[in-house]
Amino acid sequence: MTDITDYSPKGVLKNKHLLTLKDYSAEEIYEILLLAAQEKKRYKSGVKNDALKGKILAMIFSKSSTRTRLSFEAGMIQLGGYPMFLNASDMQLGRNEPLSDTARVISRMGIDGIMIRTYDQKDVEELAAYGGVPVINGLTDLYHPCQVLADLLTVYERFGRLRGLKLAYIGDGNNMANSYMIGCAKLGIDVSIVGPKEYAPQKDITDYAKTQGTVTVTEDITRGVSGADVICTDVFFSMGQEKDKSKERLLTPYQVNDELMKKTGKDSTIFLHCLPAHRGEEVTASVIDGKQSFVFDEAENRLHAQKAVMLLLLGQKSISN
Ligand code: CP
Ligand code: NVA
Repeated sequence: MTDITDYSPKGVLKNKHLLTLKDYSAEEIYEILLLAAQEKKRYKSGVKNDALKGKILAMIFSKSSTRTRLSFEAGMIQLGGYPMFLNASDMQLGRNEPLSDTARVISRMGIDGIMIRTYDQKDVEELAAYGGVPVINGLTDLYHPCQVLADLLTVYERFGRLRGLKLAYIGDGNNMANSYMIGCAKLGIDVSIVGPKEYAPQKDITDYAKTQGTVTVTEDITRGVSGADVICTDVFFSMGQEKDKSKERLLTPYQVNDELMKKTGKDSTIFLHCLPAHRGEEVTASVIDGKQSFVFDEAENRLHAQKAVMLLLLGQKSISN
């Protein structure tokens, strides 16, 4: 079993798309993270990379976004390419044109890749099946792979390694929980999902993640966070979900606060949150604005991780489905 520290990057990926981290091996995730770390360093020292010069990324959004839009848009421009923002509700998609037709039209326009943020994971898969160009999942109800790549980059920067660390995600068993389980399990990071059983992550994804590594799903905060190097959480209500008092009541005891952070038993534990955050709900201001919090490094790393994804996927000469 390798750690990222033992891996020599090849500079290529066999993957054609990034739909879910299920499709990626540990080595393929290392490829992205190591390229991201390298590009980040080069970018910060003023070295220009226009490897995607002339390439166009169509970015379809069916849900709101700050970080995902900013980071893909800025990243594409920094790499010499052109990001094309498409609000799904302004497209014929919003009037029920099939995604399969939209995908085929996009691929006739000289577009080199598609990033999509939407509800149903099946839509992302349909785009990939019909589009003929690389498709990147910018969040669905099921997964948020780009965010977890940025988080893993942040963890690697803080600890200088990944394998053998422990990450505890506290709260709703949502798209973030699903992607953490898969990504961490594959990289040998011991992952705990801590929350009420009513909002545990869905069983098929948990069962899959358990085939990949060490995954614990528990209601017990002390057990779940003990020894954790990373504590992370997310909103109680994801985009598209109605506010629901009973869910709020069940999740409130799982708020990440100073007391919970102490239960890791480690001063070196870091706190992550994909953002946007609701101070006073899933996390206290004292934690998210405190010295253990690296949430803005994490947000910045969306840029660097996604630049690596775009370089590896859109930089390829051709694609066959
Ligand atoms: N974390 C994240 O995906 O943020 P946005 O919803 O602002 O894109
Ligand atoms: N779980 C959240 C993540 C936002 C980046 C949502 O889906 O709304």
